[in-house]
Amino acid sequence: MSSDTGLVVQDLSFSWGAGKLALDRCSLQVPAGELWMLLGANGSGKSTLLRLIAKLIPLQEGIIIAPQPVGFVFQNPDHQLVMPTAGADVAFGLVAENLTLAQTHTRVRSALDAVGLGGLERRPVYALSGGQKQRLAVAGMVARQCQVLLLDEPTALLDPESQTALLELVRQLVRQQGVAALWVTHRLGELEYCDGAVLLQGGKVAAQGDPEKLVGLLKV
Ligand SMILES: Nc1ncnc2c1ncn2[C@@H]1O[C@H](COP(=O)(O)OP(=O)(O)OP(=O)(O)O)[C@@H](O)[C@H]1O
Ligand SMILES: [Mg+2]
Repeated sequence: MSSDTGLVVQDLSFSWGAGKLALDRCSLQVPAGELWMLLGANGSGKSTLLRLIAKLIPLQEGIIIAPQPVGFVFQNPDHQLVMPTAGADVAFGLVAENLTLAQTHTRVRSALDAVGLGGLERRPVYALSGGQKQRLAVAGMVARQCQVLLLDEPTALLDPESQTALLELVRQLVRQQGVAALWVTHRLGELEYCDGAVLLQGGKVAAQGDPEKLVGLLKV
């Protein structure tokens, strides 16, 4: 299920209207099996970039090569968990795949196991903690066998323990399944978990590569 190239973005530009560019000729690459972080001030274009990669908004200019399917994890899991129980929510993401009931059950169970929610199929979503909800959102991506994972400030609402658990979970999935993951954060401590980082400034890629060098740039 791994793809050799991972995620490739070339010369991507986008305007929400009125001429001003939200993204200005951005290029970056996240190899399969790597977790990269996307940094930048509020309004620098991070969410716009993720939305374009996920095809939530139409491409205007540039090239995106993203092995499918692409999964998106939002800051607030309540914005993406739509079914009443954990198992039903993961199964809901599989409806387009024409699986038998038994195949669906197997996929749901192994996805929940993979994120540490094994045995919680029947647990109501409202009865999960914030950290568990975020892991359930990731389980949906695991079940769909996503090749690219986009995470937009996924730890913003989590306590430090759940934050670390989610970072470790995603890093492990990325390594084991050859997924290319792009993770938006404002928390520099999270960079310790990544293989590379990209810094956006005013819609342009200001720097990319070694996370330690980027932290150095931000602290100057
Ligand atoms: N739906 C929209 N309609 C019009 N303009 C938008 C829309 N979404 C974002 N923008 C504009 O595009 C620019 C980039 O916004 P974006 O949300 O991508 O930034 P961001 O880096 O994700 O910021 P934050 O850290 O606050 O989440 C901003 O100037 C913003 O106002
Ligand atoms: Mg954003």
